[in-house]
Amino acid sequence: MNSEDLSLANIADNLPTKFVGKEVIYYPHLPSTMDAARQEAHQGATEGTVIIAGEQTQGRGRLKRNWLSPRGNVALSIILYPDISLMSRLIMVASLSVVRSIETVTGLKPQIKWPNDILINGNKVSGILIENELKGSAVVYVIIGIGINVNLRPDDYADISTTATSLNDEYGGNVSHLDIIRNLLIEIERLYLTSSIGDSIYTEWRDRLATLGKHVYIRSGDTVLEGVAESVDRNGALRVRHADGKTTVVVAGDVNLRDK
Ligand code: BTN
Repeated sequence: MNSEDLSLANIADNLPTKFVGKEVIYYPHLPSTMDAARQEAHQGATEGTVIIAGEQTQGRGRLKRNWLSPRGNVALSIILYPDISLMSRLIMVASLSVVRSIETVTGLKPQIKWPNDILINGNKVSGILIENELKGSAVVYVIIGIGINVNLRPDDYADISTTATSLNDEYGGNVSHLDIIRNLLIEIERLYLTSSIGDSIYTEWRDRLATLGKHVYIRSGDTVLEGVAESVDRNGALRVRHADGKTTVVVAGDVNLRDK
């Protein structure tokens, strides 16, 4: 292991959390932290266990996309066992945790593209993938996967060169991925523990959305919806108003933003 690997392996040292990150399993290389986390969950991992990869060779994104995960970026998955009533809040917990940790460490001001892409200056810096297993109405486990581009150079990758960015590029210097991860875990626990209480998470998430008021194209399954993103409800669903005045409520999809 080199020094970066060792510092990541020690990420849990003195982490001021109760359960998130108390157990950290670090792999220098992995196909995907999602699969490793699922295996751990099936073997009874404690809640808050984190799987971190120095590099992923088969990182995956939403909608069956690939996720580029070379060394020096953040790639991790967190195992949780929430009540089913909290499931829709987890998108908010995860995206706000990323936003807050980036803000704390760099002072940059990220925004959220519905439902949970993190943008800086309009380009994607982080993506979140949430997978779960349910038995009837009981949650067996939830895995929150988070990828953050820290020192990725989007220009090196044709597919994302015009849509992605990285913390180093936006900050104009080296951002410590160790600091980002530690802050992220602290925020995840804080927001997760308060997610069932009141509306403050929903309000903060809504206020951080770059999507509201924008003309959007939303790919959801095989259809593309077009209209103005009007509002989001407390469960995270997006209401889109079409040119004919009718509205559609969308619970999942991939948004293309176009300014009004
Ligand atoms: C997206 O924007 O489509 C979601 C990207 C999620 C990427 C993270 S990196 C850690 C975890 N492991 C994966 O294979 N995917 C998630």
